[in-house]
Amino acid sequence: MTTIAHHADYLCSAVSRLGSESAFEVLARAKAIEATGRRVVHMEIGEPDFDTPDHIKRAGIRAIEENYSHYTPSAGIPELREAIAAYASAYRGLAPTYGLQNVVVGAGAKPIIWNLLAALLDPGDELVYADPAYPAYASAAGYLEAKAIPVHLLESRNWRLDLDELAAKVGPKTKAVVINSPHNPTGGVLLREDLERIAELAHQHDFLVISDEIYSRNRYVDYFHSISQLDGMRERTIIVDGFSKAYAMTGWRLGYCIAPEEIAKTVTLFNNNTFSCVATFVQRAGIAALTGDDAPVERMNEIFRERRDAIVAGLNSIPGISCTLPEGAFYAFPNVSKIASDDKHLAQWLLENAGVACLGGSSFGPAGAGYLRFSYAASLDDIGWALDSLREALPRYVR
Ligand SMILES: Cc1ncc(COP(=O)(O)O)c(C=O)c1O
Repeated sequence: MTTIAHHADYLCSAVSRLGSESAFEVLARAKAIEATGRRVVHMEIGEPDFDTPDHIKRAGIRAIEENYSHYTPSAGIPELREAIAAYASAYRGLAPTYGLQNVVVGAGAKPIIWNLLAALLDPGDELVYADPAYPAYASAAGYLEAKAIPVHLLESRNWRLDLDELAAKVGPKTKAVVINSPHNPTGGVLLREDLERIAELAHQHDFLVISDEIYSRNRYVDYFHSISQLDGMRERTIIVDGFSKAYAMTGWRLGYCIAPEEIAKTVTLFNNNTFSCVATFVQRAGIAALTGDDAPVERMNEIFRERRDAIVAGLNSIPGISCTLPEGAFYAFPNVSKIASDDKHLAQWLLENAGVACLGGSSFGPAGAGYLRFSYAASLDDIGWALDSLREALPRYVR
């Protein structure tokens, strides 16, 4: 009988190209510290701290009671896909509207991103994305042996893309450009003129745009532009969106993409091959979210706005820290380069020594080095305590 010394020897080489979301690791450490009785303010994980609105919870409970507990089509139930197509078209002012054939529902936007990229990327294809960014795009591209090409976001442009760098980096091998507005981790929001330039490049170089609009409801400016609104861009755009951030439904796991039909069909094939379908009662709850009372979403956003103002003002009052005003999402992304040469080390130190859980900016790509990401999905009381704790602890930090 032979025995196995190292199970790692059995893993495929592709796994070495996978990234991960460090937020989940920091969360685990933060919980361990809390378990010892110490106070920790959680600003590491990107999820609203609110409860899911009641009418959505009730719809989910009712659906279980009514035995919505069987498999569904892999793209999602037609009623939900119709509701998504109607909502997404109306929210973006799109006519003609999308149809259910364009919508693919997944267990969160994240697996949809994976399945979408699996449907699009051949080895050697180029996927251009922002740096810093939500890590799922570069991770999937790497696994698929595509080339992930970062383009800087500029603090000086309130975290909008460096469009000249983008123009220089797209070309014949570019299969798609990923944009994310409002943006994780910076809170930046693209202007219409940014999107027009990206659209011009898409036509010129014949690439697709993956527009991650999952924070489209979390914004503090009165405009939201989707690249799908621009002339000729519907056929080049795949919108990624979901319920986690707008409706405080992170744990329900419900997201979707809206894509040209042939792409939607192939993403569906990947759903079919992976999770088969999303829990049926969760899909029913999604219909209630889109068609029910929208006031809770507005209320949550007003609270996020107050918290944003409090944390940004507080961070800017701490010597050595400067923070731009985020226009969307629920993240503050302060520059801490005067305090720390290693942002991840500083984040870890703050967790252990100040009870403040946040992430190093470089967890989101090399251009995030020198920044921290605070998710202000925490109460004003927690934010105030965290700011006091930072102010008290930071003078002791040795860079
Ligand atoms: C930019 C972006 N896209 C997609 C997601 C995935 O969200 P979910 O899988 O919860 O729908 C996230 C979550 O943090 C995100 O920040």
